[in-house]
Formats: sequence, C-alpha cells, structure tokens
Amino acid sequence: MLQDSFGRRFYYLRLSVTDICNFRCNYCLPDGYQCGQSSARENPLSVVEVGTVVGAFASLGTEKVRLTGGEPSLRKDLEQLIETVKSVDGIGRVAITTNGYRLPMEIDAWQRAGLDQLNVSIDSLDPQQFRAITGHDKLDTILCGIDRALALGIPTKVNAVLLREHNFAEFNHFLEWIRVTPVSLRFIELMRTGDNRDFFASNHVAGSDIEKLLLRTGWEQVVRPRDAGPAKEYAHPDYAGRIGLIMPYSKDFCVSCNRLRMSAQGALHLCLFAEQGIDLRDAIGGGDHQALAEQIRAAVCGKNASHQLASGFTGATRNLAMLGG
Ligand code: 5AD
Ligand code: SF4
Repeated sequence: MLQDSFGRRFYYLRLSVTDICNFRCNYCLPDGYQCGQSSARENPLSVVEVGTVVGAFASLGTEKVRLTGGEPSLRKDLEQLIETVKSVDGIGRVAITTNGYRLPMEIDAWQRAGLDQLNVSIDSLDPQQFRAITGHDKLDTILCGIDRALALGIPTKVNAVLLREHNFAEFNHFLEWIRVTPVSLRFIELMRTGDNRDFFASNHVAGSDIEKLLLRTGWEQVVRPRDAGPAKEYAHPDYAGRIGLIMPYSKDFCVSCNRLRMSAQGALHLCLFAEQGIDLRDAIGGGDHQALAEQIRAAVCGKNASHQLASGFTGATRNLAMLGG
C-alpha cells in the first residue's frame, strides 16, 4: 500500500488528461487557455500510457481514479480513456470533473464506457452571471446534462467556487436548487494561485463562515468513505441534495490527504501546490507497471506534511487548469 512518511495512504488518483480548457473562468483562466503556457503541452499521455499509469497505481492500492484537466472532454478519445481506466484490476470507481459543456451529448457514452461518478463545475445558477464568470453561455446545456446524468443514476456532484463579488449573493438560490435536486453541491473556498492574487484578495470567502451558517440552520455533518475527497459533507432532512465544503485553508486540511495527482504530461504531483512535479514520462513510456510503481512509491516518501497556502505560498501553481484542482 502506498503510504507517506506521515502514515497517510493514497486510495485516490487525480489524473489530468489535458491542460487545455475552453472556458475562461475568472478565477482560473481569465484570458483563456494560452498555447505554449508550458512545455510539451500538445503531447498528453496516450490511452496506452494512461493504462500504464493506472496499472501502477492500482498495484499500489489505488481504488479510485478521477479524470481531470483542463477540460477532459476536449480529448477526442475520452471514452477510450474511461474504458481503459475502468478495466484496470483494482480500480473500483472512475470519476470525471468537467465544465459540462458537452454533457448532454456525451454522458450516455461515458456511462457505457464505465463512468461511475460525475463532478460538474457550476459557479452560478443565473445564466448571465454564469457567462460573466466562465465566458460561456452554457448554463442551460449543463443543467440539461445534469438532469440526464441523474436520470441515468450517476451520482453527481456540482462544484461552485464561492466568490464574494460574483456569486456569493446567490448562496440561497443554490440552496433552493438542492432542495429538489439530488446532487451533492460542493462549495469550494477560492484558492490563491500564482495568477489570481488580486482577484483572490477581493473574492475570498472563508469556508468556516459558511460552515457556521449551515450548522445554525439544521444541516448536520455526515461520515464519508476512506476514498472520499476532502469535503466535509452535510445533509438536511428537508433537502434532496447535500452540501460539501472544501476548505483548503482550514486547520488540518492536509492531515487526511488521500490523493495524488498526475499531470497530463506524466509528472507526479505530491500536492496541488508542490513546487514542481516529478517527471515520470520515461518510466510511463517504458510500459513497465512494476518499475513505475517503484518510482511512485519512492517519490511519495518525500511528500510534505502540508501545503503552505496560509502563508501565501502557492508553489509553482499558476492556475488550477494546469492540474485539475
Ligand atoms: N480556487 C478554488 N477552486 C478552483 N478551481 C479552479 N481554480 C480554483 C481556485 N483558484 C476549481 C474549479 C473546478 C475544479 C476543477 O477546480 O471550479 O470546480
Ligand atoms: Fe474554468 Fe475549470 Fe476551465 Fe479553469 S479549467 S477555466 S476552472 S472550466
């Protein structure tokens, strides 16, 4: 089993399949994706390489894989990627994080390929505000896609980054929505990255304030499985949906870290905010699961106890499109 020097175990791999994104979320890629932002950008891991990566992680005890980006559905071979990950022995669950712009057209095929769980980013339920935040007039399409996913029985989470100046006033609107919609709504505390310093200063909302509000209004925290994400989850008898709070600035956020990240170019990132990834592309290209697994195991011993976001340190992370959040 993969374990670091602090005794944390890693059941969960977040695998980026492309750096490219077609949205321009104001907290992430306000000017859109810029070609050549980093090297080797046009050469993401192939389907075969993804199979090798996931095979190595599965041999080390990984049970769940999430495909991220950028926007994963920009990959023409996404169905094959899902199928490949799902077919690896030991991988129980395959999830995807998407901005949802292709959801109504693709979700049936993704499920057929083996997708178990869906995360969709929706930062506003108001079409105009949605467009202002993301640069795209796609809210209705995305909501249709979510309806379809629910009809297919796919457990669905919706991510909303809370932004003081853009969507915080919609907080109650979000709650009304999940009164009748059985999704798990994740409020994500805005994280400061290399590119969004000023934006962060004017838009950060403390997750702990939201938590207090929920507890005052009858929401109760629920216990979650060991391969679950870092969200604290809350349920309320009057609501079909749940709420998850992702509070990276809270004390002890990193204590229960159970995930590792692989970039689309095959670099292992021990933390979202690590200074740099560990380039494993050669070992991946070699196709030898066991050799790759040994390199991963050795690298994980060097994982730090915690990020240092609270002291303003953002590592090399310029934006989260680089690594899928
Ligand atoms: N802070 C918090 N969440 C972010 N995401 C992207 N950038 C940031 C940031 N700076 C989120 C997206 C999406 C997920 C992939 O990461 O909104 O839900
Ligand atoms: Fe928005 Fe995600 Fe694309 Fe960043 S990667 S611009 S958060 S959709």
